[in-house]
Amino acid sequence: MVKQKTVWVCNECGNKEFKWMGNCNSCKNWNTLVEELEAPQNKGRFEAKTLHVTKPVLLEEVDTANFKRFQTGYRELDRLMGEGIVEGSLNLLGGEPGIGKSTLLLQLSKCFADQGRTVLYVCGEESAQQTSLRAKRLGIKSDKIYLFSETLFSQIRAQIDHIRPAVLIVDSVQIVYKSELPSAPGSVTQVREIAMDCMHISKGNGITTFMIGHVTKSGDIAGPRVLEHIVDTVLEFEGNRQHGYRLMRSVKNRFGPTDDVALFQMSEKGLHEILNPSLTFLEERLSGSPGSVIIPTIEGTRALLIEVQALVAPSSFASPSRRSTGLDAKRLSLLLAVLEKRMGYQLHALDVFVSIAGGMKITEPAIDLGTMIAIASCYCNTPIPSDTVVMGEVGLGGEVRSIPRVESRIKEAINLGFKRIILSSKNLKGLNKKLTEKIVLQGVSHVEEAVKTLLRV
Ligand SMILES: Nc1ncnc2c1ncn2[C@@H]1O[C@H](COP(=O)(O)OP(=O)(O)O)[C@@H](O)[C@H]1O
Ligand SMILES: [Mg+2]
Ligand SMILES: [Zn+2]
Repeated sequence: MVKQKTVWVCNECGNKEFKWMGNCNSCKNWNTLVEELEAPQNKGRFEAKTLHVTKPVLLEEVDTANFKRFQTGYRELDRLMGEGIVEGSLNLLGGEPGIGKSTLLLQLSKCFADQGRTVLYVCGEESAQQTSLRAKRLGIKSDKIYLFSETLFSQIRAQIDHIRPAVLIVDSVQIVYKSELPSAPGSVTQVREIAMDCMHISKGNGITTFMIGHVTKSGDIAGPRVLEHIVDTVLEFEGNRQHGYRLMRSVKNRFGPTDDVALFQMSEKGLHEILNPSLTFLEERLSGSPGSVIIPTIEGTRALLIEVQALVAPSSFASPSRRSTGLDAKRLSLLLAVLEKRMGYQLHALDVFVSIAGGMKITEPAIDLGTMIAIASCYCNTPIPSDTVVMGEVGLGGEVRSIPRVESRIKEAINLGFKRIILSSKNLKGLNKKLTEKIVLQGVSHVEEAVKTLLRV
């Protein structure tokens, strides 16, 4: 008997090693290598089963503007994809379990079906009954959507050839498997093979394909990352399950903008897009309460106004707790140290909680100043004026630094009726006159100055 070779494959990036290692040589993640049987050579596949015979085209004759696109009915999603979905494209939708991937694709199936397209929805994760119950809850009825609860790829392949759908949905790429491969469903080898075949199916037959990929923390199944180079677009769904808001990010897009975002809200009736995110985030704000600050932040290509809340309370433990939701805990402790040192606040006996309203996650340092003002406002028990927004990065010396893309942030604040912005004085240079006439821009160079201006202490 031939001894089968095993390899160690990284679940995050797909890197192969010949022996086990604690961290991946390529992406440096820890504990991501899993053992897999080496796949047998598959010779036949690349003599593709394509219908169209392709041939080289002269560079000048390539027609790029002419991608056939179709609209989904979700304006934000269409924008994210680059004014619609390209026919015959292969798209990957990644996200944590329960975030709403199946829900969204079921809703999209309805849009496609309403346009007269036949949809084959492979619901490998759930039974056809479960998916149909979900469809009922979402109010989806159609005679153009086929549900197929199957995980064996050869069966799925046969049904694709039989039904000849215009749109194929694979829910999820990690549960579908090929029996001829020795490794388990969800392994890097399986997932890649399935994705490669989906690519041949979509390109060869012009079937627009969506694959769902789970992102899990446990690391026992391959993450969607390992497929990024195969697919045309990668959309990532984020947000936390307790909150209704879901952020969709285009991580890769061969036919449109990348690093752009669209915002959705989950409800009983499914996902709705949010056309004016800032307004939605500010709706629930309790104005005039200490510890609340509005910050303009950049998500993708657009500015968003979000609320940061801070709570400072006497601690009943020897080591007080510092909790942050939506922003980095290390960044928070740094900001607290700066406040303590530069402002003389006695924070060491106090619990500090900071959270970004709506369950958003913000990583840019432009929220530093706003976060510190929120903490200061709660510490001094003084609300900051509700018509004011705050932005700026803060350095270790307490100096307020300039941030990128101030003009779009200012525009968003003006759009939502704010009257004053506190920002770094360095950001005041070279601003468009039209903007500066509509709102009061107050430059500060130090945290102390910002606190004095806003809290009058
Ligand atoms: N009966 C229900 N009523 C309202 N919301 C529900 C209901 N069932 C599920 N949901 C919502 O749908 C989400 C599950 O979405 P789903 O599309 O199955 O996620 P994924 O496919 O990403 O794992 C749940 O987290 C919940 O928010
Ligand atoms: Mg699902
Ligand atoms: Zn890796």
